[in-house]
Amino acid sequence: MDAAEFRALGHQVVDLLAEYLEHIEERRVFPAVQPSELQPLFAEPLPQDPSPPQAVVGELETKLIPNCTHVGHPGYMGLITPSPSPVGVIADLICSALNQNPGAYSIGPAAVALERRVLRWLTDLCGYGPEAGGNLTSGGMMANFIGLKLARDAVTGDRAQHDGVREAYTVYVSEERHVSIDKAVDSIGLGRSALRALPTDARFQLRLEALEAALAEDKLHGRIPLCVIGLFGTTNTGAVDDLPALRHIADREGLWLHVDAAYGGGMLLSHQWPMRDRGLELADSITLDPHKWFYAPLDAGAILVKDQRRLTASFGIRPPYLTDELDQAGERYQFYVHGFEQSRRFRGLKVWMSFKRYGARQIGVWIDNNVRQAKLLHQLVAEQAEFEAASDPPMSAICIRYLAPGLTHHAARRLHALVAQRVEESGKFWISTTELKGKSWFRINPVNFRTREEHMRRLLELLRQESRAALQTAAVDPA
Ligand SMILES: Cc1ncc(COP(=O)(O)O)c(C=O)c1O
Repeated sequence: MDAAEFRALGHQVVDLLAEYLEHIEERRVFPAVQPSELQPLFAEPLPQDPSPPQAVVGELETKLIPNCTHVGHPGYMGLITPSPSPVGVIADLICSALNQNPGAYSIGPAAVALERRVLRWLTDLCGYGPEAGGNLTSGGMMANFIGLKLARDAVTGDRAQHDGVREAYTVYVSEERHVSIDKAVDSIGLGRSALRALPTDARFQLRLEALEAALAEDKLHGRIPLCVIGLFGTTNTGAVDDLPALRHIADREGLWLHVDAAYGGGMLLSHQWPMRDRGLELADSITLDPHKWFYAPLDAGAILVKDQRRLTASFGIRPPYLTDELDQAGERYQFYVHGFEQSRRFRGLKVWMSFKRYGARQIGVWIDNNVRQAKLLHQLVAEQAEFEAASDPPMSAICIRYLAPGLTHHAARRLHALVAQRVEESGKFWISTTELKGKSWFRINPVNFRTREEHMRRLLELLRQESRAALQTAAVDPA
């Protein structure tokens, strides 16, 4: 591909995407397609011969784009994937063109500097001091894994990196944790049975007396508490744990405090409901995902650490083939020495460009709009008797359920699943379902700068119609 073809193709694709974004609301949120129809669309042997660029893009226009979940559509309020900021989309194109590899300074000197600035912005937002550091990751799953590994290494006095896990360590978190915590506890060698998933109160916050009881029980049986995890924005309802209390307990017990703010970190930019006074800065490490509520396109998660020397203690191995012999002065920062990954995408660019183009203030306005939409839905639900809400949403995630007296748990679960399916088929919205305290719920979560309040009213109306219709079907018959 010569420069002229690259230019022509680039212009064509940018025009295509501009058109796509401009008219995204006219599309179905979720395609009217069956899984069995998708594989055949792409079933062909490995191409041996070239195709004209127009033909390749043409296939994307006919096969890929119509069969996407259009997460930028204002009716997408499902699993946490935001409407990506357009400047972030452009940033990803630039990122691929330059193909900098910030893992090592020699493959991206300016990219390393820019990304370190982005990390500084994030650590400042969390209230950390100048000793803090971090890494951009593929997402919250990886960030929580690294947070737990940092905990393990610090509490074992940096022995576990060499000797493995020799003691019966335990980890504490609320039952509202994301599954990444379970995977992380397993991956750092503790085993999932080392995780204590503790009950929450009516606002879905970790019950401190349950934490105290679990600590006492474990110590009585010779187990060694290693880490407590606070949640700053649970996936289901946006609940925030009492972080100062967790810090107090962690200090008393010699525990690492990791906080999962993968979703809730967005609230640090809120103007109307600022959450900068909840004690996030008390954590030893924090997960915060710009690809959730900072509206960055995938992927951009982050693990942030109060004392960046802990990253080096956990990951600082320098094999000869990676050692930068040109760095006699020790000035060339090597992310691979201070983090888990080596080769990786220059994720910082889209976060940097978003903050530069929109400013934190504008992103905070989008966040407030999403919270306002969730609160409106909560108010609409409170004004009628057919639905109930799990809690007054502190963020933009809200769970509501249809109240059909006499339904068994199984039938209620079936009803919510059936309605979510009908919503998907409508093409107007996409929402998910979940379970909270033994009941089934619709989980609705605008993380979307195109969503407007009218969408919440229309969604509730659709849920009402479809729930009434589902009640009539044999599938949710209480018998
Ligand atoms: C609270 C929380 N933590 C972690 C994650 C995992 O993040 P990711 O999907 O970026 O890996 C999620 C995902 O929704 C989440 O809600």
